Amino acid sequence: MPLVSMRQLLDEAAKGGYGVGAFNVNDMEQIQAIMMAAKQTKSPVIVQASRGARAFAEDLYLFKLIQAAAELNPDIPIAMHQDHGNSFETCRSAIALGYTSVMMDGSLKEDGKTPSTFDENVDVTRRVVDYAHERGVTVEGEIGVLGGVEDGHGAGGSGLEHITDPDQAVEFAERTGVDALAIAIGTSHGAYKFNKKPDGSVLKMDVLIAIHKRLPYTHLVMHGSSSVPKELQDIVNKYGGSLKPTWGVPVEEIQLGIRNGVRKVNVDTDNRLAITGAIRKVFAETPEKFDPRDYMKPAREAMAKVVSERMTEFGQAGHAGDYTPIPISKMAEDYKSGKLDTRPSVAAH
Ligand code: 13P
Repeated sequence: MPLVSMRQLLDEAAKGGYGVGAFNVNDMEQIQAIMMAAKQTKSPVIVQASRGARAFAEDLYLFKLIQAAAELNPDIPIAMHQDHGNSFETCRSAIALGYTSVMMDGSLKEDGKTPSTFDENVDVTRRVVDYAHERGVTVEGEIGVLGGVEDGHGAGGSGLEHITDPDQAVEFAERTGVDALAIAIGTSHGAYKFNKKPDGSVLKMDVLIAIHKRLPYTHLVMHGSSSVPKELQDIVNKYGGSLKPTWGVPVEEIQLGIRNGVRKVNVDTDNRLAITGAIRKVFAETPEKFDPRDYMKPAREAMAKVVSERMTEFGQAGHAGDYTPIPISKMAEDYKSGKLDTRPSVAAH
């Protein structure tokens, strides 16, 4: 099956009342792990690459691997997404490669570190929306600023510093016409999100619910949504790692989000932990081994297990065969005719 539009994938998720995991990739084994899990659970899937991933793997290698995944798995809808684009140019180059979705993260300036002004964010996101929709490509924006740093991208600090204001979220959706909106509700990228199991004082699910009530036609995105399970931390530490005690976003909170408009759930750290734990185990238990396949195979399996658990928990499992892909050229026509317009003043009518 050709790569599908992320907008179609999220519209279907909204119809079915489920969420879709967006898993980060840097290499072949991670892509294979996602596809193993998608095949096993019969799930549609979003594969995403950060700027760091594109630089690490080189654009063409990474994109051809995704095309191979699509060719080898004709029954699985796959959307290929640029995670945290920092500029119009990053989004344009992803679209030129064939990505079917881009995130323009205008919450930060082009340096990917300094929070931008609301108007700067609107301006750059609107430009990307115009360009992408003309080509049938989906756009995710961000309002509010996440905590932490991922692949060199992020404002740092805790997730509580720039929580999304619901009024601003509505104005942003109206002025940009984004398909999907990442909001800041206290999560951050990476392993160190919370220093105890999060409650409502640090994870603002009430803000998410308020935003969904006012923006029912814009798909919400939860970034920084790894659960950082203790079992995965323990494996890493048992075999020589030194992770400090930490808590992620409990799956029940993500499920609450999914019941309230969250359609895309970003997960990277849990997979990194699974891979690292599996590799450490092989190194610690069989130090005589030196064939990379001896540790990459268990690493790939460990990641596939985490991904397939998340696919089941987010509810996307079993939905791969629900629909046939709309060609990207048809998506472009539908954007042009206004059929896919999500702006709150228009979508409600
Ligand atoms: P985690 O670090 O929680 O996996 O978040 C990943 C993410 O949000 C990618 O954009």
